[in-house]
Amino acid sequence: MRIVPEIADQHAEMTGWRRDIHAHPELGFQENRTADMVAAKLESFGIEVHRGVGKTGLVGVLKQGNSARSIGLRADMDALPILEENGFDHASRNKGVMHACGHDGHTTMLLGAAKYLAATRRFDGTVNFIFQPAEEGLGGALAMLEDGLFDRFPCDSIFGMHNRPRLPVGRFAVRSGPMMAGGAFFDIDITGKGAHGARPETGIDTLLVGVQIASTLQTIVSRNVPPLQTAVLSITQFHAGDAYNVIPQHARLSGTVRAFSKEVMAMVEANMRRIAESTAAAFGASARVDFRVNFAPTINDPEQAAFAASICDGLVGADRVDREPPLIMASEDFSFMLEQRPGCYINIGNGDGDGACEVHNPAYDFNDESLPLGASFFARAVEAKLAPAG
Ligand code: NI
Repeated sequence: MRIVPEIADQHAEMTGWRRDIHAHPELGFQENRTADMVAAKLESFGIEVHRGVGKTGLVGVLKQGNSARSIGLRADMDALPILEENGFDHASRNKGVMHACGHDGHTTMLLGAAKYLAATRRFDGTVNFIFQPAEEGLGGALAMLEDGLFDRFPCDSIFGMHNRPRLPVGRFAVRSGPMMAGGAFFDIDITGKGAHGARPETGIDTLLVGVQIASTLQTIVSRNVPPLQTAVLSITQFHAGDAYNVIPQHARLSGTVRAFSKEVMAMVEANMRRIAESTAAAFGASARVDFRVNFAPTINDPEQAAFAASICDGLVGADRVDREPPLIMASEDFSFMLEQRPGCYINIGNGDGDGACEVHNPAYDFNDESLPLGASFFARAVEAKLAPAG
């Protein structure tokens, strides 16, 4: 591996930062201690800091030379509402909150790159270090965009990184085009007519209507989504009724949809509305659909993906960079930033031994062995994109 030597020298220091963040996890939009720590570090490196971009989010700006070129590097800072089961010294001291997705590592890798870039300045242009809050479904990326992220901090291209358990340390996965699914949550409220359980003829049975809707919705993926494209529709909640002898007046179905294009997501939504409303009407009931898209599909710009892969090649060798990893059905809100600027989201190996535990598991931990490599990716991406003329 060709880790940036100055960053290799920061390994112990970065491990300390990462474990400190891990021990003090904070949920989305509550990353106050984390943001304080990141801001203090950036300022100590001589980087200009802008707080309150997307509530607890912040941006560090490092300018060098006269070039108008710019690049954005993004890390997420939030933790999850999970009770940590690990017994090591840096385990969570905030009971019920845990860095179970490695955002502690992502934040540290970007800080490590910031320290190196501020010290060496072998580039010409502006680097924006984007520390995003609330990635775990709470809208942190959108909050930063609504606060004018790219108007205030122009970025010609943007890059982000997520660790991947079971991918060995020292490997990257970089995919051009769609990479992770977009995600939506939905609620379907059904209203029939409540009645005595012994006198169904006087009511309209919302439970029966709900069952019909639930089973018919499963025809959308099999019959409406083109077979060479893909989507998931899972009904995960069905709430109705409180008594043995009452036919309930109301019922609610809820769940999630995942798809790799906005077109497929919109098509699933349109079919869901038609099926729910018309199936309910067939029984004399009514249904109201609330469909909320929380994540856009994560789609990497082909040119920026090729660039990112070439940086990875330079660090670990082309045979350790997977250019055709499988599509990921989970979602990521960096997608909303990628809708506005060309860029690429990559995966870095978290290890097939110690780092193999899946994310969102109470035994997960970010693998500190990956810290210098991830920071080196960000550093080399800047030095290549903003290479000084001549
Ligand atoms: Ni994550």
